[in-house]
Amino acid sequence: MFDPASLLAPIVGAPMAGGPSTPELTAAISDAGGFGILAGAYLSPAQLREQIAAVRSRTGAPFGVNLFVPEEIPFDAESFLRFRDELLPLAARFGATLPQNICYSDDAFEAKTQVLLDEGVHAVSFTFGVPAPEVFAACTARGIATITTVTDRLEAEIAVAAGTAVLCAQGVEAGGHRSTFHILDDDRETPVLELLGRTAGLGVPVIGAGGIGSVTDVQAMLDAGAVAAQVGTLFLRTPEAGTRAAHRAALADPRFTETRTTRAYSGRPARALVNDYVRRYSRTAPPVYPQINGLTGPLRQAAADDPQVINLWAGTGWRGAQAAPAAQVVAALTPPG
Ligand SMILES: Cc1cc2nc3c(=O)[nH]c(=O)nc-3n(C[C@H](O)[C@H](O)[C@H](O)COP(=O)(O)O)c2cc1C
Repeated sequence: MFDPASLLAPIVGAPMAGGPSTPELTAAISDAGGFGILAGAYLSPAQLREQIAAVRSRTGAPFGVNLFVPEEIPFDAESFLRFRDELLPLAARFGATLPQNICYSDDAFEAKTQVLLDEGVHAVSFTFGVPAPEVFAACTARGIATITTVTDRLEAEIAVAAGTAVLCAQGVEAGGHRSTFHILDDDRETPVLELLGRTAGLGVPVIGAGGIGSVTDVQAMLDAGAVAAQVGTLFLRTPEAGTRAAHRAALADPRFTETRTTRAYSGRPARALVNDYVRRYSRTAPPVYPQINGLTGPLRQAAADDPQVINLWAGTGWRGAQAAPAAQVVAALTPPG
């Protein structure tokens, strides 16, 4: 009998789209006895296929792939252009040209889902929503475990009703994007240990995510009923990750003293180290996703070496991030026994 929980080691390597996630990192985590999840967002279907092959060339261990579930809402051009105007002086400082218009993209969700079905990966995880029940059914029919990321009880109930095999309960402490189902949702900002209590009893295993800084935090999640802890930030400084140099350095820089959630980079809330950009633009950034992500892209590219501008995604446990091989991080986070 197919048991999705059997795939899950106590340490799940979070997908980290936009650079940090690499086939090397996913393979290293799975090889070390964790369960690596490759980020599929922002990749073309062909790139995704290549990255899956690259993981497989490095390890025979099981791993998963994550996709963002698209949601198209009416485009608020006025807010987009107002925010663009605000960013223009900063963009000029770095010689970046900001687009005037960005077409909606569903990030090739259907085509990439088909790649995952064709490739028969061990697990698919979904973020930013819940796909159609047929997607869950197709994965299950191929023996692919499905994981849906949720931030509150209602999302968990919806995901289970649609057919997810596993939940990933993402607490407010988590680095990177909040996985609320809708772009305009008010985030309930539930801490992970509380969320694990709220998502229990639905008949599916639950992975906890958010704020892991040490093995003690992992143990607390397991004690709260999680089958595993999904860890992102603590892998950002590993040599296998594709994290930018300025981001790696900021994670170890005592001048960065706090994290907060902000819509200022993509239009969706995401947790980052607080820098000048976050301080300046969080109040006015509109909830226009994915267009704000596309708008700030050229600026983040041009300012790649400036930690006061780029998105320094980080969870609340960021001070535990070590510049050590991923296998060592997995070992250090795995509770004894
Ligand atoms: C740099 C970065 C990128 C992320 N990208 C994704 C992603 O592509 N898909 C996803 O489901 N979650 C993504 N997340 C969130 C993680 O899945 C997870 O919820 C989070 O890392 C857990 O909190 P922690 O960072 O405090 O360990 C990202 C997190 C970080 C830090």
